[in-house]
Amino acid sequence: MKIGFGCDHAAIDLKNSMIAYMKEKGYECVDYGTNYDENGEIIKCDYPDKGREVGEAVVKGDVDYGVLMCGTGIGISISANKVPGVIAAVCSEPYSARMTKMHNNANIIAFGARVVGDEMAKMILDEFFGTEFEGGRHAGRVELIKKIEADYSK
Ligand code: RB5
Repeated sequence: MKIGFGCDHAAIDLKNSMIAYMKEKGYECVDYGTNYDENGEIIKCDYPDKGREVGEAVVKGDVDYGVLMCGTGIGISISANKVPGVIAAVCSEPYSARMTKMHNNANIIAFGARVVGDEMAKMILDEFFGTEFEGGRHAGRVELIKKIEADYSK
């Protein structure tokens, strides 16, 4: 499985730490930045651009899932959700991470570097990537989400 990681300047260390964690678990990880430059300076970016970039990578199939981080996880997930086909959820604890895969079939998970620490973020990723979409009655609801998107793209 291939996972795309993206963050703004608020979450570089957490993003790099989560990439290392997931690589160790055998996942293929693509780093969409942002990062530090060769002088150790933060390469500033605006979270909407990074949310869009990773959202587009997921929808195009360049990666199977996305993991997004900013200060709160909110701005970057809102931005990713504007890309048709993205279902991005902000989850600050493992229960929500599990449920958003199980019930919403989320293809992007987001969290905030100013909200969760490394160990909580690892648990969030473990739940998200260790859970399958349940389908059944939830499939119809996810279709209704997609219908909203389709109705407004006309
Ligand atoms: C950047 O300071 C901050 O606004 C951003 O990381 C994020 O928390 C926005 O939702």
